[in-house]
Amino acid sequence: MTVEKTKTRKVVIVGTGFVGASYAYALLNQGIGSDLVLIDLDKERAEGEARDLNHGMPFRSPMKIRAGDYDECKDADMVVITAGANQKPGETRLDLATKNAKIMKGIVTQIMKNDFKGIILVATNPVDVLTHVAYDVSGLPKERVIGSGTILDTARFRYLLSEYYQIDSRNVHAYIIGEHGDSELPVWSHVQIGGVPLKKYGCMDDVAEDPDMKQIFENVRDAAYHIIERKGASYYGIGLGLARLTKAILYDENSIITVSTLFEGEYGIENVYLGIPAVVNENGVREMIELDLNKKELNELHASAKILREMTEKVLE
Ligand code: 2OP
Repeated sequence: MTVEKTKTRKVVIVGTGFVGASYAYALLNQGIGSDLVLIDLDKERAEGEARDLNHGMPFRSPMKIRAGDYDECKDADMVVITAGANQKPGETRLDLATKNAKIMKGIVTQIMKNDFKGIILVATNPVDVLTHVAYDVSGLPKERVIGSGTILDTARFRYLLSEYYQIDSRNVHAYIIGEHGDSELPVWSHVQIGGVPLKKYGCMDDVAEDPDMKQIFENVRDAAYHIIERKGASYYGIGLGLARLTKAILYDENSIITVSTLFEGEYGIENVYLGIPAVVNENGVREMIELDLNKKELNELHASAKILREMTEKVLE
C-alpha cells in the first residue's frame, strides 16, 4: 500500500512564556500545523512545555512537537515571535519598546542567519513597533513580516458587542484598527450585525456618541489593563488569535483579519506598521482592505500612525 505523504507545515515559536505556550496549546488543540518547534532562552522551559504538550497527543491528531534551536528555522513555514518582557500593572505597551526592540533585533538576526524564507509573525509588544523592527532587520518583503496587530482588540470588540446584543460573535462584523494599544480606534461606521449597519440595528442617531457604545470601546481598549491587574498577564485570547492567523497562512485561506502591516501610502499614511484588516494567505499579507473611513476615524488613524512612527524611529536609530 502506498501512503501519500501529506505536506509538512512547520511552525517555530520563539518564546515559550504564557503567550507562546497558550498559542502552542491552541495549535495542538485545533490540529493546526504538523511540526512545532519551541525555542526559548530557557531551554529547560521549552523542553518542559514540549513534553507537556506531547502528553496530550493521544487526544489530538498527530503533530510533531519538540524543543529546538534556531537552525530549525531553515525549513520552517512560519516563525512566530512571542518572546520579550510584558507589561507590569500600570505600564503601557509602548513603555516596553526600547527593551523589547533589543530582544527583537537579536532574535530576528538569529532567524535570518539560518536562511529563513518563510513568514515572520510577531506578537511581542509593542507589536506594531516591533514588527517594523523585525521587517527592518530581516530584509524580508513586507508581506512576509506580519504583526498580530489589532486581531485581539477586534475579537474583544466583537465579543463585547455580541454580549450587548445577545448575538453570536461570529455574526458581528466590526474592526478595531491602528495601534494595538492606547491610540487604537473602533471603526463604528462599518460595524454590522448580520449584515445590518449598527446604526440601524441599534436604532441610534450617532453610534460613536452613544454612551453604551463608548463604554464598550473603552472596555476593549483597556482590556489588557483590566486583565493584567487581575491575573498579571493576558494570554489565552492572543494564543487563539495567533492560531487563527497561523491557520489562514498555512492553509492559504485568503481570510480578512486585522493584522499589523506596513503602510506605504494607503489611507495617506507612509512607512509605519499599523493594525488594519488585510487579506492573509500563504504568502502573508496579500493586500490591505481600504475601508471608506469617515473624517473622525481617518484623523484618529493618522494620530495613531504618528505615535507609532515616532516610537519606531526612536528604536530603529
Ligand atoms: C493584550 O492586549 C497585553 O497586548 C496584550 O492582552
